[in-house]
Amino acid sequence: MSVHINTKKENIAKTVIMPGDPLRVKYIAEKYLTNVSLVNKTRLCLAYTGLYKDRLVTVMASGMGMPSMAIYSYELFNEFDVDKIIRVGSCGSYYEEIRPRDIILVEKAFTLSNFAYQYDKENVNIIEGSSNLNKKIIDTAFKKKLDIRIGNINTSDLFYNKYENPKIRENFCLGVEMETFALFYIAKKSSKEASSILTVSDNLVTKEELTSEEREKTFDEAITLALDSIL
Ligand code: HPA
Repeated sequence: MSVHINTKKENIAKTVIMPGDPLRVKYIAEKYLTNVSLVNKTRLCLAYTGLYKDRLVTVMASGMGMPSMAIYSYELFNEFDVDKIIRVGSCGSYYEEIRPRDIILVEKAFTLSNFAYQYDKENVNIIEGSSNLNKKIIDTAFKKKLDIRIGNINTSDLFYNKYENPKIRENFCLGVEMETFALFYIAKKSSKEASSILTVSDNLVTKEELTSEEREKTFDEAITLALDSIL
């Protein structure tokens, strides 16, 4: 039990898969998990715990943006003794050749926000995911013959904005989303592991977007990559 997660500690697995959207969480639980139970519905930030091929896993929503991700990842790591969180989300792409459906494994998350300063008076704007967990994800992708891109991402506080700060390109960001920096930073401060697997949902140059059918199919590739990486 914590402020925002209303369940007993034993109802949360040591490994958590974290999409942003609660309905994605429900979809994953129903499609991929057995012996599954709904363990949190506070604020409709659904969490289900069940078995994926004999491995106990919790799938829980992060909500949108760093504040929401920070609340849930902090409580999972520090109050539920979770060891690993893998975000499975979407992002916009900054480059014409990085197309919708492509999968990006985040190496480093860059942010213009002062999140780290507010957390612990640190001037940190770029942070790596877990190299150990990323290695497992890369090995799993290789075994599945799944092409993934590996690179940096911009974690933005804004979905709608007009100004593109040059620091984003200077930090080699392939695309933009809104949660990974918070996850990586909270994981590091909690001495835990985190990775982020992002599916490109839209190209910010060409304006190409996934159809809803493509969204579902491509998302399945990212989710099974995450699930098979924790076996
Ligand atoms: N901006 C921020 N977050 C996103 C985007 C975007 O264009 N696409 C998917 N998540």
